[in-house]
Amino acid sequence: MDHRVPVAAVVAVVLAVWLQLPAASRGQLQVGFYNTGCPNAETLVRQAVTNAFNNDSGVAAGLIRLHFHDCFVRGCDASVLLTSANGTAERDAAPNNPSLRGFQVIDAAKAAVEQSCPRTVSCADIVAFAARDSINLTGSVSYQVPSGRRDGNISIDQDALNNLPQPTFTAAQLVASFANKSLTAEEMVILSGAHTVGRSFCSSFLARVWNNTTPIVDTGLSPAYAALLRALCPSNANASTPTTTAVDPSTPATLDNNYYKLLPLNLGLFFSDNQLRTNATLSASVDSFAANETLWKQRFVAAMVKMGNIEVLTGSQGEIRLNCSVVNNRSSAAAGAGIERPYHYSGATVSIDELATS
Ligand code: HEM
Ligand SMILES: *[C@@H]1O[C@H](CO)[C@@H](O)[C@H](O)[C@H]1NC(C)=O
Ligand SMILES: *[C@@H]1O[C@H](CO)[C@@H](O)[C@H](O)[C@H]1NC(C)=O
Ligand SMILES: *[C@@H]1O[C@H](CO)[C@@H](O)[C@H](O)[C@H]1NC(C)=O
Ligand SMILES: *[C@@H]1O[C@H](CO)[C@@H](O)[C@H](O)[C@H]1NC(C)=O
Ligand SMILES: *[C@@H]1O[C@H](CO)[C@@H](O)[C@H](O)[C@H]1NC(C)=O
Ligand SMILES: *[C@@H]1O[C@H](CO)[C@@H](O)[C@H](O)[C@H]1NC(C)=O
Ligand SMILES: *[C@@H]1O[C@H](CO)[C@@H](O)[C@H](O)[C@H]1NC(C)=O
Ligand SMILES: *[C@@H]1O[C@H](CO)[C@@H](O)[C@H](O)[C@H]1NC(C)=O
Ligand SMILES: *[C@@H]1O[C@H](CO)[C@@H](O)[C@H](O)[C@H]1NC(C)=O
Ligand SMILES: *[C@@H]1O[C@H](CO)[C@@H](O)[C@H](O)[C@H]1NC(C)=O
Ligand SMILES: *[C@@H]1O[C@H](CO)[C@@H](O)[C@H](O)[C@H]1NC(C)=O
Repeated sequence: MDHRVPVAAVVAVVLAVWLQLPAASRGQLQVGFYNTGCPNAETLVRQAVTNAFNNDSGVAAGLIRLHFHDCFVRGCDASVLLTSANGTAERDAAPNNPSLRGFQVIDAAKAAVEQSCPRTVSCADIVAFAARDSINLTGSVSYQVPSGRRDGNISIDQDALNNLPQPTFTAAQLVASFANKSLTAEEMVILSGAHTVGRSFCSSFLARVWNNTTPIVDTGLSPAYAALLRALCPSNANASTPTTTAVDPSTPATLDNNYYKLLPLNLGLFFSDNQLRTNATLSASVDSFAANETLWKQRFVAAMVKMGNIEVLTGSQGEIRLNCSVVNNRSSAAAGAGIERPYHYSGATVSIDELATS
């Protein structure tokens, strides 16, 4: 006689109970996470992003990249925003410093949400919302962002160097870097289309335009474009050289599918961009997105949502940071999870307008 309950039945019961739990306790993000706790959170972030965008449209590209650089390093936990007294945080690492931008927009958004609903909205969610709003402003496309991320409190420069793909990466290295974050080769191609907006400092393409042997001889750079870039960036330029150039020189502020059209013309700015053409599988994806902008935008927003799920902290993990640049004091570590002590957040009395004009 076998009195064991069939495994399938146990699995079914466990699954049924689990599915009835709130998404947050299942460790999942959910659309509208702040609907009850801070119903205007997403609107306030949108306003802060729009204000900054109206002053400098370049912040949109900065905020899209900020979310990517947050998610690839210790997950989407706002670790990229933390500052360090001795300059050893993620934001101090070469891939982020000096190029990463949009920090002050996140700070303005955080000040606004703290004023409206203190200790409720994580910095990591603000970064995800701000990337979405930037895509909306530059790309005429909208999507819903699952939220409920919590903020981490560890930020180490070496983690950024280890986890962020570099512009000298080969196709195989790019695919491996994204696979390590559970993103497919096709999603790597799709997300690379973000290089249709924004700018780059000289150091990210210098070796390619002057020597063209790094890491291998690269026939995918138009000689005329290379000459233009040499005129812009002297061979002794370095990371502190302030010159920048558009990543997509034809429509630098519009999130369109132009990136994929530039690649076959040998007009991809980075060695890594051109690598998407060196592999038949990746190249077929490039061609399909060059041919159909609607298709790319649908895939792009879906891939952004998937990227926004990388190694997130949820439920009682992490904390709701009060100032996005610093972890909470231990005495205020209960932020967002039942608070015993009064806590005076200096940002709570600062309006967006005050921050924006200071
Ligand atoms: C596939 C691997 C990738 C590599 C190797 C790479 C590399 C780079 C580099 C070197 C820059 C210029 C930095 C500088 O100013 O020197 C840049 C800019 C940028 N990247 Fe990527 N990137 C990759 C993927 C992505 C992804 C997945 C996104 C977002 C979904 C993204 C969004 C951007 C944006 C928007 C800019 C312009 C930033 C600005 O204007 O401030 N990149 N990228
Ligand atoms: C920098 O500070 C962090 C913590 O504040 C510490 O763990 C690290 O060892 C310091 N690094 C250097 C190089 O001093
Ligand atoms: C931006 O997002 C808003 C809100 O979802 C939407 O109504 C609007 O159509 C979007 N803008 C564009 C140009 O798609
Ligand atoms: C792969 O991801 C893990 C977990 O995020 C990280 O610790 C590791 O450094 C990553 N390795 C590479 C090569 O990106
Ligand atoms: C070009 O290569 C030479 C020899 O390897 C090197 O010394 C020089 O720094 C390189 N220049 C650039 C701009 O990469
Ligand atoms: C970068 O180049 C400038 C001008 O050539 C030079 O003054 C500066 O010392 C260099 N900085 C670094 C970090 O190499
Ligand atoms: C091209 O990339 C795909 C996806 O990573 C990989 O499976 C395939 O082996 C690559 N092909 C070549 C010829 O390198
Ligand atoms: C482009 O992609 C969209 C979305 O997937 C699809 O509905 C449409 O049929 C495609 N257009 C062409 C011309 O293939
Ligand atoms: C780090 O975050 C945890 C919550 O995950 C919190 O309990 C702890 O106090 C934080 N550490 C510091 C130094 O703030
Ligand atoms: C955390 O505590 C230190 C020392 O008590 C204090 O100087 C600092 O202002 C506090 N930080 C915040 C954000 O309140
Ligand atoms: C947040 O912390 C940073 C670093 O300590 C500080 O410079 C900034 O003024 C703080 N912001 C607010 C709004 O308190
Ligand atoms: C407007 O943008 C410029 C950079 O283009 C920046 O220096 C300035 O701080 C911004 N002003 C406001 C009020 O955000």
